[in-house]
Amino acid sequence: MSKKLFIRTYGCQMNDYDSEKMADILAASHNLELTDIEAEADVLLLNTCSIREKAQERVFHQLGRWRPFKERNEEVLIAVGGCVASQEGKVIRQRAPYVDVVFGPQTLHRLPKMLDEAKTKKKLVMDISFPEIEKFDNLPEPRAEGPKAFVSVMEGCSKYCTFCVVPYTRGEEVSRPVDDVLAEISSLASQGVREVNLLGQNVNAYAGDMVDGDTADFALLLHYVAAIEGIDRIRYTTSHPKEFSESLIQAYEDIPELVDHLHLPVQSGSNTVLARMKRGHEIAEYTDKLARLKKIRPNMSFSSDFIIGFPQETDDEFEQTMQLIEQVGFDHSFSFIFSARPGTPAADMSDDVDIAVKKQRLERLQALVNKQTEDLSELMVGTVQRVLVEGESKKNSLQITGRTENNRVVNFAGPSRLGGQFVDVLITEALRNSLRGRMVKRGEE
Ligand code: SAM
Ligand code: F3S
Repeated sequence: MSKKLFIRTYGCQMNDYDSEKMADILAASHNLELTDIEAEADVLLLNTCSIREKAQERVFHQLGRWRPFKERNEEVLIAVGGCVASQEGKVIRQRAPYVDVVFGPQTLHRLPKMLDEAKTKKKLVMDISFPEIEKFDNLPEPRAEGPKAFVSVMEGCSKYCTFCVVPYTRGEEVSRPVDDVLAEISSLASQGVREVNLLGQNVNAYAGDMVDGDTADFALLLHYVAAIEGIDRIRYTTSHPKEFSESLIQAYEDIPELVDHLHLPVQSGSNTVLARMKRGHEIAEYTDKLARLKKIRPNMSFSSDFIIGFPQETDDEFEQTMQLIEQVGFDHSFSFIFSARPGTPAADMSDDVDIAVKKQRLERLQALVNKQTEDLSELMVGTVQRVLVEGESKKNSLQITGRTENNRVVNFAGPSRLGGQFVDVLITEALRNSLRGRMVKRGEE
């Protein structure tokens, strides 16, 4: 009987991607099979995130819950990876001595060796180094699950925004060579993938080596990806306003596979807050870039990330964020109250804003964005949208489900064999978290 692996993942899409890779690696090396049941696992793996508060406590809480499994059967191995592991490796050794393996986001490919070592040596094995791009050279062939896939194109971040731990936990920006990215996507496309989401903390800082010795920027990479047979939709997460280059704006004119939707984190609508965050641009530069994109793609919609209650954020600075949200008409947002992250410059900034005020601001901001999301969904009623069918709807087996270009879920009647195909759907109703529709054209049948 094959041994079982249980993975719990906290945090971002980068972490989800890493967890999938860990599962692939351990399936190949140790024949470990994924399970949803913690109690039957031979290896328990926690992939952590430290972007906001409580992450650390959450990790120790989870490890505490896993401890009895280890006490009952000392053959069970517990591994902790991701950003908390990278920052708090030594603390884990002290507070949870029963943990067998601690590894950072850049050493996941060394997991098989580390597990073996932990098993024989019966003591903690830790590797939280940043061995550049070696991680990607040691991954098994990608496996497609459905018509959508994530593909990492670069790792880390060199921007050092004053609030953010990523440069410390994931290291500086490192890009994968162009050919490696294209080989992975071609393999996925040959397994039926139609939509790729290119991942990185700052994909537009991409600078990938090419075989001829040149370097490709992100726009050039997009051209190559779009040329792969079968890839008809391209998304990417996340990009940075400062590096949103001319060539990338131009790509929206030249590459129809790029979706009419962009997630571009701005964090605040105030120039003074942006300066304190060390974002490296002003609001005018941001709105100017969005306006140019909108000129090329009139249907383009935008979403963003916001940090509310950055140290000393005044009422006026917050109101500027609200104005920006209205002005751009953001269709969606990820918004959180500022969380002081140990070791980052913003953690040492004095802060005189009451937490109750921060909570009120967050509520107001989220109410405004939600209203805009609903209004935009309403506006979609009566339009025909191109939908990539993902398969049977979860709630109703007579319906199928898919996503529009602006990433809304649409449920509509149709056979599940249309999974993996693009169809045209007339939107008939806007619900809170999804749309309903009627298929008007069957795509590629
Ligand atoms: N590369 C992206 C960018 O250009 O901003 C951000 C990546 S970051 C991992 C994801 C989001 O987490 C950020 O956009 C920010 O809104 C949020 N975030 C990061 N550090 C934070 C903190 N200390 N407190 C609250 N939110 C934070
Ligand atoms: Fe973090 Fe700023 Fe980089 S938010 S991931 S340091 S662009």
